Amino acid sequence: MFGPIFLLLGFLTALLASASPLEKRASRTTPPAGAVQVKNPAGSGQFSTVQAAINSLPNDSSARTYSEQVSITRPGMTTIWGSTTDTTSYTSNSVTITHSLSAAAAGSDDLSGTFRVHKDNFALYNVNIRNTFGQGSQALALSSYGTNVGYYGCAFFGFQDTVLANQGNQYFGVDYIEGAVDFIFGQHARVFFQRNVIASVAAGTITADGPTSATDESLFVINHSTIQASTSASGSLVGQVFLGRPWTQWARVVYTSCTLSNIINGAGWEIWSTATPNTADVTFAEFASTGAGAAGTRASFSEKLSSNTGFMAADVLGSNWTSWVDQAYV
Ligand SMILES: *[C@@H]1O[C@H](CO)[C@@H](O)[C@H](O)[C@H]1NC(C)=O
Ligand SMILES: *[C@@H]1O[C@H](CO)[C@@H](O)[C@H](O)[C@H]1NC(C)=O
Ligand SMILES: *[C@@H]1O[C@H](CO)[C@@H](O)[C@H](O)[C@H]1NC(C)=O
Repeated sequence: MFGPIFLLLGFLTALLASASPLEKRASRTTPPAGAVQVKNPAGSGQFSTVQAAINSLPNDSSARTYSEQVSITRPGMTTIWGSTTDTTSYTSNSVTITHSLSAAAAGSDDLSGTFRVHKDNFALYNVNIRNTFGQGSQALALSSYGTNVGYYGCAFFGFQDTVLANQGNQYFGVDYIEGAVDFIFGQHARVFFQRNVIASVAAGTITADGPTSATDESLFVINHSTIQASTSASGSLVGQVFLGRPWTQWARVVYTSCTLSNIINGAGWEIWSTATPNTADVTFAEFASTGAGAAGTRASFSEKLSSNTGFMAADVLGSNWTSWVDQAYV
């Protein structure tokens, strides 16, 4: 008696299951949605022979671009993989999901997102996500609401507000995040960014955290990541980029062990606006920054830490973080 054979069709396959993604690497007993299925010889199925199923697969092995907006709300653990020749990084991804919608047109930041996750227990691997609207409005590539949510080897491209991490505990491992203005932002989430490349396409500010009260636990920690100009930046960005500005006065953003290129302004951090500086209660901190952008007289409302105590992954995400974060991307 043979179980079903699952052929991973095409270039983006979704595995819908209730177990954790880590367990799913050890066993595969449920067909990934979209997979071509060959049923056991006695059963009825989409294909009765393996050869027929293989013949149905596309012969095109080139990169795939999907032009659409995606919203994920279903219950249960959900994992999506894009095809790649190198799962350890975003650099060989061949799947791109792209859309071009501004928040002004969509009605909200969230609704503009090319890829919207409103659920707990979600993982995305090796997919590039773009919002190509460009300058002139908030226009999100990713809108992420949920706890136990991880993005691994992904790349996110936008201009203003590329990545919204707004709720729950979230992990970004070995990702690429590109934008110009407030391009990593949110209000309530606790987020750990590990070994990311964060790239500016124009002058502006990388993070904008906006907890809604002193007890809102929002915190962004960016560890062991590289901050640089995007290769698609036009002109020099030397000294024109800031690590963060406070969307509200309780903003909390910490960079630990990051390499900062010379695009980072010597002040490091900036006020929200002249009328509303929002600096009263911020936690804007760096630990062990290196690179040309680590030099300079930092803004008075920021601090340099002598240790990263309090800002380790377990501090940010909870002591159970190793049970849901894929440790290959730590
Ligand atoms: C791919 O090519 C093979 C021959 O090499 C053919 O049998 C098969 O039908 C093709 N598949 C599709 C989906 O066109
Ligand atoms: C930061 O990243 C480095 C390199 O991956 C790692 O050794 C270190 O433990 C990380 N720090 C925290 C606080 O997780
Ligand atoms: C980890 O603990 C947090 C609370 O600290 C909880 O919200 C989350 O669901 C837990 N995750 C897992 C995978 O158990």
